[in-house]
Formats: sequence, C-alpha cells, structure tokens
Amino acid sequence: MKTLLSIVSVLAFSASAAIAADASANWGTLCASCHGKDGAGHTKAGKRLEVKDLTAADYQKTFSDADAFNSLKNGFKAADGTEKMKSFAEKLSDDDIKALVAYVRAMGK
Ligand code: HEC
Repeated sequence: MKTLLSIVSVLAFSASAAIAADASANWGTLCASCHGKDGAGHTKAGKRLEVKDLTAADYQKTFSDADAFNSLKNGFKAADGTEKMKSFAEKLSDDDIKALVAYVRAMGK
C-alpha cells in the first residue's frame, strides 16, 4: 500500500511539474513579447499597448481568474473597443489557458 501511495504521489508531482513547464514555455513564446519575461510589461510592445504590471498585487485584484481566462480565450478589448490582446483560442487549449492564469497569479505574489 505504501508503495502504491508513493507511486501515485510521484505521478501527481510530475504531472504538475509538466503543467508548470508548459505554462512557462507558452509564456515565453506567446506572452513575454508584450508582458515581459517577468510580467512587469517593460517591453516596446507592452509600452505601446499600455499593458499593466502583472507583478502588482493591486492590478491582479482587478480581474478574476474567470476574467483572465475569458480575455485569453476571446481576446481583450479596451472600453472604446480597440483590441488590446488577441484571442489565443487557436493556439492554446483550455487547460493551457488555465495553467497560464495560475502562472500569472504566481507573479502577483
Ligand atoms: C500583443 C501584446 C500582448 C500579448 C502577446 C499578450 N498580452 Fe496579455 N494583455 C495585453 C494588454 C494590452 C492587456 C490589457 C491591459 C489593460 O489595459 O488592462 C493584457 C491583459 C492581460 C491580462 C489581464 C486580463 C483581464 O481580464 O483584465 C492577463 C491575465 C494577460 N494579459 C495575460 C496574458 C497571457 C497569459 C498572454 C500569453 C498567452 C498574454 N497576456 C499575451 C497585451 C498582450
């Protein structure tokens, strides 16, 4: 029984490690160009589009996990209708998006 339990926990651990690795790789290829490697948004495109600092706890409070998921799935538009962030629905699965939302949350801590 003990052996079985440890196998299960090893599997669970490697699954979550794989998710974290995917989110970090996706962040680097799809998100960092605007939001920056660290999420603070100090990039050329980030400044032009006026991204907010994702490492700031106050900014993180302005959107729920569901808001973030929705923005990544369907795109994010400013109040005047200009597109700020395009939809990632074709590039990322729902699970990829969820993992990225968790990844972004970890930046605000
Ligand atoms: C083309 C530049 C660009 C790229 C690429 C980009 N973003 Fe964004 N992102 C923005 C802008 C601009 C905003 C909106 C800032 C504002 O005005 O509130 C935003 C907002 C967000 C928000 C807040 C959403 C909300 O509902 O308030 C999250 C979370 C986020 N981005 C995560 C990501 C992730 C994860 C990726 C990669 C899959 C990504 N972004 C790629 C520009 C970008």
